[in-house]
Amino acid sequence: MNEPLRTRTLQCRINGQAQSFKVTSAAQLLHVLRNDAGLNGPRLGCGLGQCGACTVWVDGQAARSCCIPALEMQGREITTLEGLPPELKAVPQAFVDAQAAQCGYCLNGMIMMAARLLRDHPRPTDADIVRALSANLCRCGTHVEIMQAVRLAAQRIREQSAA
Ligand code: FES
Ligand code: FES
Repeated sequence: MNEPLRTRTLQCRINGQAQSFKVTSAAQLLHVLRNDAGLNGPRLGCGLGQCGACTVWVDGQAARSCCIPALEMQGREITTLEGLPPELKAVPQAFVDAQAAQCGYCLNGMIMMAARLLRDHPRPTDADIVRALSANLCRCGTHVEIMQAVRLAAQRIREQSAA
């Protein structure tokens, strides 16, 4: 027999702000972010932890929000595309400038993974970029433009920090 759903209060921080939601034990973090917090950066792709479209940071580490029970996020710090720190805003802008989207569905995950790489490694090699993004799927095949976007973002972030 299936366990009945329980509703509990989830208290966490999202993009630097304390938040509280009533969620069921079946709710995944992605659904709380999109449906309760109104944050549409993270996308639902496969829903199985395989494509990366739903990527967010949990306590600064990349995580696939489609398959994390929301109630496991008690007291955690969640960062979405909307809440990237100012020094990393160059990353989404570089994706726009490099025209790195066709359908755009993968971009949230690509940007969140690239931003995490550049946060920790402002001078990545192409091999570093490929490694950082290799588990994220782009069905449209915009990999060349995505590489250009990450190189461009890295250059702009270095210029910003040198200014
Ligand atoms: S939607 Fe989460 S990994 Fe595909
Ligand atoms: S641009 Fe369509 S999935 Fe990447």
